[in-house]
Amino acid sequence: MIVLEDSFTDEEKRGFYKAIYSRRDVRSHFISKPIEENKLSKILHAAHHAPSVGFSQPWNFILIKDQATKKKIKESFDEEKRRSSQVVDEPKKSKYLSFKLEGILESPVNLCVTYDPTKFGPFVIGRSSIPEAGLYSVCCAIQNLWLSARTEGVGLGWVSILSNEILKETLQLPEHVVPVAYLCLGYVNEFADKPDLETAKWLPRLDLKDVVYYEKWEDKENSDWKEIQDLIQTNLD
Ligand SMILES: Cc1cc2nc3c(=O)[nH]c(=O)nc-3n(C[C@H](O)[C@H](O)[C@H](O)COP(=O)(O)O)c2cc1C
Repeated sequence: MIVLEDSFTDEEKRGFYKAIYSRRDVRSHFISKPIEENKLSKILHAAHHAPSVGFSQPWNFILIKDQATKKKIKESFDEEKRRSSQVVDEPKKSKYLSFKLEGILESPVNLCVTYDPTKFGPFVIGRSSIPEAGLYSVCCAIQNLWLSARTEGVGLGWVSILSNEILKETLQLPEHVVPVAYLCLGYVNEFADKPDLETAKWLPRLDLKDVVYYEKWEDKENSDWKEIQDLIQTNLD
């Protein structure tokens, strides 16, 4: 076995997986304690060290604490939630409407993560065939941010029930800049064990064995991959 000097110790590995498995999308349970700016800065640094197509780093982070801005965004959420509920039939509609799906006003810091396709453009290595790779890069930054926040004990909730037009107007984004995520951050008094939507029996977590295919689409039983099939079956979470 090759042991690299900079490989992770068992304790470090445990910390890494703890962040992954205990990360939650948080919409309630925010407490009023402000987030220290050195912590916020650490979290933003972690986000900024995400991978990006052609090293284009196409993200920007807009920190928001102004209550008037938050109120405008919350109004957009209320309107979009109402609008989206019209495409769901009862009894799901009432259930959907009863869910708490944002913490815009209660969280001390809101953060909009944006995508700027013009950064270092127009030629970015790796983006010519799949233009969406730029957006994927921003999502990598958001995941880093989310895991770093969890590691620092800060809750984070992603709000996508919003009008991008209102977001762009309120935050004065240039026309070519895309808002990718609107996030609510703050200390919380608990991180739930499971996703809220799983607890509410909205959707279950799928079994890993049902989402892993071998060699081609929908092949779940390829005999060249027997060992991992058995491991995935017995080692669900
Ligand atoms: C792109 C994206 C958009 C999301 N939008 C919302 C949202 O508008 N409101 C909300 O309450 N949760 C939102 N979530 C959180 C998901 O509901 C949550 O990640 C999922 O239920 C699994 O729960 P967990 O993150 O706690 O593991 C969003 C998550 C992602 C990745």
